[in-house]
Amino acid sequence: MSTNFTTRGGRERAIISRHNAYATPFESVTVQFCKITIKQGAAALTSQRGEFGSRFGFIMAAAGSAVGLGNIWGFPTQAASNGGAAFVVVYLLLAFLLAYPVLMAELTLGRHAHGNMIAALAKVSRNGTQRGIGTLMGIVGIFTASLILSFYAIVSGWMIGFGAAYPLDALGATETATWLSEFGLSRNLMLMLIFMTLTMAVVAGGVEKGIERWSKRLMPALIVTLILLSLYVMTLEGAGKGLAVYLVPDLSKLWSTELVFNAMGAAFFSLSLGVGTMLIYGSYVSDEEHLPSLGVQVALVDVGIAVLAGFLILPAMYVAAERGVMIFNEAGGLLSEDTLIFVVLPALFDSMNETGTVLALAFFGLMSIAALTSSISMLEVPVSFLVERFQWGRLRAAFIATAIITAMSAAIVMNFDTLFGLVITVSTRYSQPLLGLALCVYAGWVWRRDVLLKELAKNEEATASTFFMRWWPWYVRFVCPAIIVTILARSIA
Ligand code: PFF
Repeated sequence: MSTNFTTRGGRERAIISRHNAYATPFESVTVQFCKITIKQGAAALTSQRGEFGSRFGFIMAAAGSAVGLGNIWGFPTQAASNGGAAFVVVYLLLAFLLAYPVLMAELTLGRHAHGNMIAALAKVSRNGTQRGIGTLMGIVGIFTASLILSFYAIVSGWMIGFGAAYPLDALGATETATWLSEFGLSRNLMLMLIFMTLTMAVVAGGVEKGIERWSKRLMPALIVTLILLSLYVMTLEGAGKGLAVYLVPDLSKLWSTELVFNAMGAAFFSLSLGVGTMLIYGSYVSDEEHLPSLGVQVALVDVGIAVLAGFLILPAMYVAAERGVMIFNEAGGLLSEDTLIFVVLPALFDSMNETGTVLALAFFGLMSIAALTSSISMLEVPVSFLVERFQWGRLRAAFIATAIITAMSAAIVMNFDTLFGLVITVSTRYSQPLLGLALCVYAGWVWRRDVLLKELAKNEEATASTFFMRWWPWYVRFVCPAIIVTILARSIA
């Protein structure tokens, strides 16, 4: 689509300059007319391409991408097994000192190109080699986003399954409820398929009518549910102990490489970085918006919800312990990951009768919403590429991308023991930080500084951005790559 417009605009610009050569009053009117045509062409282009309709809509969509299973499940359990508040502190530091600057690199590159990651990296490149590497990085980004979605959809399907199982059980459909909540091939496939279909339905609706509309509905619901759930759990017997584990730091773990590496992975995963999601969302932001402050708001919502989720999950675990549920493993550590969500919490809900059913519905509903607002951003990465590169209709692109990712996901379900963990490690622990590094290099070294500054200065809001403008280009050039390389090298060594 953009190619079409460039040719059209190019032709019109040629007409304008021809007319300018013999500028008469009549021709100057023609010039004006042509200018208007170009403007209209641009407007038509943006609306065809899609754009967020409001600032709130963008923040909800980008925060929706960021806030996901990683925040509500991953972050609290990682905090519990990595020294409690020590992990929280390292995570917060990395979120603001590393992840936020990388987020800004993605948003700025995306808005500048008004295109996908491949187009954006090509646009800022200055020679063929840079363009070639940029294209490769863009392809790896699309592949990684699809890979993440292929495992994410399986886990998200389980959330839907558990969410439906509780009310069904209460209504007497015990067999279906058991099927929905027990690990099994057909159940895993079916739930994954349902989740992928939901994701496709939203993305096929387009940027404003699909992604933005649903994010604006689902995110406020998520925040309210999370706050209500944490407040309720906090009133239960045993919650205080969980709170202490969360908030009292085990300082001995503070400088362990494992902790820092995990916190970096968590921060990158949580802010959906590296794979082009934020870049493509940035490309739908209007030129009127001030990017640095949008980025801060997205990061704040993301980190805020992760921290808030800690006030739900850890107290809930100790409430469960108070009711006789086993929450420690043989080594004495807190149970985490899948056991926490699918064994410990269900045991807690079961111990509470009807209240348990309501809580379970709210909790798994919350997880499903968080998962959906993230998965749509992942699917948007390949979909936007297909739409922009091959000029496909959105529906067709969404259908084909969903079909491919569903097939990848089915392959993981069928070879669960071998593939599930491997795909998570490759895509989130290595690929995401490495792609983040590439984005920093393109924003910091490849992109011409004056053009970068001009992009950032669009709709400048004096004081905050002066500081940002002075430091960020330098920071993303030297500091971010250095941090990523150091952490990766140490963890590999
Ligand atoms: N940020 C999401 C979460 O915390 O669950 C996960 C995610 C979304 C990762 C989008 C990558 C991505 F592109």
